[in-house]
Amino acid sequence: MSTSRKLITLDEFTIQQTREFPKATGELSALLRDISLACKLINKQVNKAGLVDIIGKFGATNVQGEEQMKLDIYSDEMLINVLRNSNDCAGIASEENDDFIAFDDEYSINSKYVVLFDPLDGSSNIDVNASIGTIFSIYRRVSPLGAPCTKEDFLQPGNKLMAAGYVIYGSSTMLVYATRLGVNGFTLEPSIGEFCLSHPNMVCKESGNIYSINQGNSRHYDDGMVAYLDYCMEINKEEGRPYSHRYIGSMVADLHRNLIKGGIFIYPGDKKNPKGKLRLQYECNPFAFIIEAAGGMSTDGTVRTLDIQPVELHQRVPVYVGSKKMVEKAMEYVAKHQ
Ligand code: AHG
Ligand code: MN
Ligand code: MN
Ligand code: MN
Repeated sequence: MSTSRKLITLDEFTIQQTREFPKATGELSALLRDISLACKLINKQVNKAGLVDIIGKFGATNVQGEEQMKLDIYSDEMLINVLRNSNDCAGIASEENDDFIAFDDEYSINSKYVVLFDPLDGSSNIDVNASIGTIFSIYRRVSPLGAPCTKEDFLQPGNKLMAAGYVIYGSSTMLVYATRLGVNGFTLEPSIGEFCLSHPNMVCKESGNIYSINQGNSRHYDDGMVAYLDYCMEINKEEGRPYSHRYIGSMVADLHRNLIKGGIFIYPGDKKNPKGKLRLQYECNPFAFIIEAAGGMSTDGTVRTLDIQPVELHQRVPVYVGSKKMVEKAMEYVAKHQ
């Protein structure tokens, strides 16, 4: 076996990236290492989901009024514990907790960054063995160092994000990480327990032929959305339609596929839920940041997702995200029928 290797681990990669910023202190790379460690531990548990008594309803109801699965709680606690014990994180906010948590030890109060996460996305897919994920994002805090972080640190718009990413627990486990320098994907090599660069410089195609939306809700959709769905299904050979409809019901898995293949993912507001379902700070902003860094686009139908000023931690927004030309077309339909 040859020992010359092309393997670049996530750690090596972020250290190389840091060299391009002479003022960088390495804290962001350290933070990413902490998050990836927590996700490797979550991954171990996800892989065992069919074996141990960890699936099923946990019985508790979270702040969103949803029943939590055991793996939701496990993943949430794992991320919180790893980040609390690291020296690189001032505090966290999570989909599963009513309020943010400010870490108050002497290292944490002097840390520059806060982390927001959806510890387990697509939890309804756990018991059917379909792909699920973890979504995370990192802001530089706006509150002064030397004291615990504050709510304002977590209520920054997405255009202030330093980095965002996700881990997909799929047929293989991948971590996709975006900064303003671009988007890179790392696949977990289970035998050495390292995420290794497998998808350098990921690019979201300008256009694609996949649309992802919960079409079963279409009776609740506004006229613009219904007309856009008709457009997706219309036969037009020259323009590559009808598009294929693909919807797993796990945002990470649906957007991971669309990032690789090109496509649009929509969770619209509708007559029943005018703000849609997905959460700005834990789901929409991180993906808007990743997809934009890859050349794509994300909006709530009119406003760029990353420019929405969050007013509460668990705020929901409609989202249209993916290949630029497809998002623009969907916006045209929304605007025409307003
Ligand atoms: P979570 O499991 O973190 O609560 O998120 C579920 C979300 C998201 O992953 C997915 O895109 C969406 O819910 C699916 O919702 P519908 O079942 O309403 O389509
Ligand atoms: Mn949930
Ligand atoms: Mn989610
Ligand atoms: Mn979740």
